Amino acid sequence: MGEALNGVGYVLLDRTKLEKRVRELGWAISEHYRSRVSPSSPLVVVSVLKGSFIFAADLVRALDIPVRIEFLGVRSYGDSTTSSGVVQVTQDLSHSVEEQDVLLVEDIVDTGLTSAFLLEQMQSRRARTVGLCSLLNKPARAVVPVQIDFLGFTIEDLFVVGYGLDAAQRFRNLPDLCVFQEDT
Ligand code: PRP
Repeated sequence: MGEALNGVGYVLLDRTKLEKRVRELGWAISEHYRSRVSPSSPLVVVSVLKGSFIFAADLVRALDIPVRIEFLGVRSYGDSTTSSGVVQVTQDLSHSVEEQDVLLVEDIVDTGLTSAFLLEQMQSRRARTVGLCSLLNKPARAVVPVQIDFLGFTIEDLFVVGYGLDAAQRFRNLPDLCVFQEDT
């Protein structure tokens, strides 16, 4: 393995599996929202940056209902083991979500603190409905309970990279989801 991939261990979910699951999620989300949304009131898909950018890009192409895409940049305070759940919005939405159906798109729910905060944020901004779609869920690390309405995969307590997820900002571009192993 070349130096560029130092740290990347085995493939946990390959691109074929990811693609198939994203198609299924797209179908389920479209069915769920079809009767609620319209061209004048589309589903607002909020991609939570940075981790979800590839998943969200694939997911919206699997939707066959009217959608509007928004991006939300967030930063958590502290390290993940002591996080207080305080999340700072570093890049805000470009339009109001008031009276809109909002679907938050995350790459992973780990402690649940980020998603819990963002669900509450969208509610306080008076969204009509707020749903959560996450590619991955890691229940072993859950701190707060979060309802994931559309879930791709439940995974073990592994450090995963690729398909948008990083280790110190690296490996987001890998097409497969891989396990990060520092001494690999
Ligand atoms: C990751 C991920 C979620 C959050 C999940 O973001 O994208 O937003 O952590 O963790 P939690 O459930 O413990 O809150 P990260 O802070 O790594 O930033 P990134 O998306 O820019 O990589």
